Amino acid sequence: MSGGGKVVAGNWKMNLGPREALDFPSGLRVPDGSAAEILLFPPAISLAGLREGLERSGLSHRVGLGVQNVYFEEAGAYTGETSVSMAAAAGAGHVLVGHSERRHVFGETDADTARKVAAVLRGGLIPVLCVGENLDEREAGRVEEVILRQLETVLASETIRAPLGSGARFLLAYEPVWAIGTGKTATPEDASAAHAVLRSHLVERLGDRGREVPILYGGSVNPDNAGELMSADEVDGVLVGGASLDPDGFSRIIHAA
Ligand code: PGA
Repeated sequence: MSGGGKVVAGNWKMNLGPREALDFPSGLRVPDGSAAEILLFPPAISLAGLREGLERSGLSHRVGLGVQNVYFEEAGAYTGETSVSMAAAAGAGHVLVGHSERRHVFGETDADTARKVAAVLRGGLIPVLCVGENLDEREAGRVEEVILRQLETVLASETIRAPLGSGARFLLAYEPVWAIGTGKTATPEDASAAHAVLRSHLVERLGDRGREVPILYGGSVNPDNAGELMSADEVDGVLVGGASLDPDGFSRIIHAA
């Protein structure tokens, strides 16, 4: 990716309610002059609390907010779901799409992720598409095939390629499923290799715009390994789960960027 600082994104998953979200920013430290782009994805129900906490700590201009999932319809009888416009009205600028837990716990398909990315772009928000192979796929030598299939299902859609081609922002996160929440991290070399595969496909499909898509690594990133991972080739930032729940640890990852 050309220019800009590293992206440090925290995915809280189903952790930290409104009250804890309100308190979180008081423990967050963002070094003056840090070029890092910081994003937090709290549970949707905690977004307003986190937003208020960031305002109180004077950090709202430094931390972007997002939601962990949306539904692709605009409104209606979809119990339990959140639409893109609702997420936007609550202060979200980014949306995670196709996180491995959405795919593997909730059965979200590649086609669902494509519909969601299209809805996010239509609503003017920034999608963060997550891709990654599971352990069986890695051991069978299928990493490339799996992550390219997940990416291509999205890029195959002209409704998605058109806005991306004309400058809409888009982020990609490579998150090997076997590294998520397991304490096992991909080596910087493995991360670079997967990112290079994704990068060349982005460029093939989007031309020079494909070079501007930040590709984040996710999977057991912590304050001790974040610096090394972020200095690996083609790693434009990190998507942090467990280690983003503690403001001190998350601040150390921001520092490493
Ligand atoms: P982890 O999760 O850092 O807890 O492994 C990463 C993710 O799922 O985004």
